[in-house]
Amino acid sequence: MNLNIFNHFPELKLSDEILLRELKHTDANSLKNILSDPKVAPFIPNDVIPQSITQALVEINFLRSLFKNKKSVYWGINHAEHGLIGTVGYENWQMYHNRLEVAFELNPIFWQRGIMSMCLRGIIEYAFEEMQVNRIEAYTLTTNEASHKTLLKVGFKEEGRLKKYRKFNGEFVDVIIFGLVNENTE
Ligand SMILES: CC(C)(COP(=O)(O)OP(=O)(O)OC[C@H]1O[C@@H](n2cnc3c(N)ncnc32)[C@H](O)[C@@H]1OP(=O)(O)O)[C@@H](O)C(=O)NCCC(=O)NCCS
Repeated sequence: MNLNIFNHFPELKLSDEILLRELKHTDANSLKNILSDPKVAPFIPNDVIPQSITQALVEINFLRSLFKNKKSVYWGINHAEHGLIGTVGYENWQMYHNRLEVAFELNPIFWQRGIMSMCLRGIIEYAFEEMQVNRIEAYTLTTNEASHKTLLKVGFKEEGRLKKYRKFNGEFVDVIIFGLVNENTE
């Protein structure tokens, strides 16, 4: 585990077009549009979908505070021409267990071009080499085929179905857990 990562926010340049960077307050409108898009919203809890710019700012402040408070790292996905097109990051660095939980979403205009696979590969390398974590996990709704395929593509293994694991929009639902283990840590 390497807590020195909190000295400077780690920007990751993944291609000429895609840069992973810290979220900014000026991203509020883009973030609101992405999370409330009818293709994205079914996979996001209602209470996380901003209904206003003010609510989007609250979400951005929360994601920024993860790094500021040395809890975790959450990036905005910046497209050179289009600005913020998604987010990807780790909500929860369980430091005692040295594991992370990953989350992500992308503006549907950019779906199925390999962008999220590239972002996940970038932040997995960062987590394993720089943060030196043992394990990354992801929890997805059972219906989220795009997310399952994306996680499998970048090396996650499906580890099982957790029954009634999450309260999602008022109902207790099953989720699929995916895991990826760092073979280079003890
Ligand atoms: C999941 C998501 C981020 C995928 O992003 P993406 O950039 O389109 O993913 P990629 O282009 O890297 O695709 C990765 C793999 O998944 C497959 N895939 C992606 N979207 C798919 C879809 N809608 N239907 C079927 N397969 C899909 C791709 O074909 C690719 O596999 P392949 O290389 O074998 O063809 C995007 O669909 C999304 O934002 N969904 C809504 C939010 C969400 O579900 N977040 C995750 C919550 S756990």
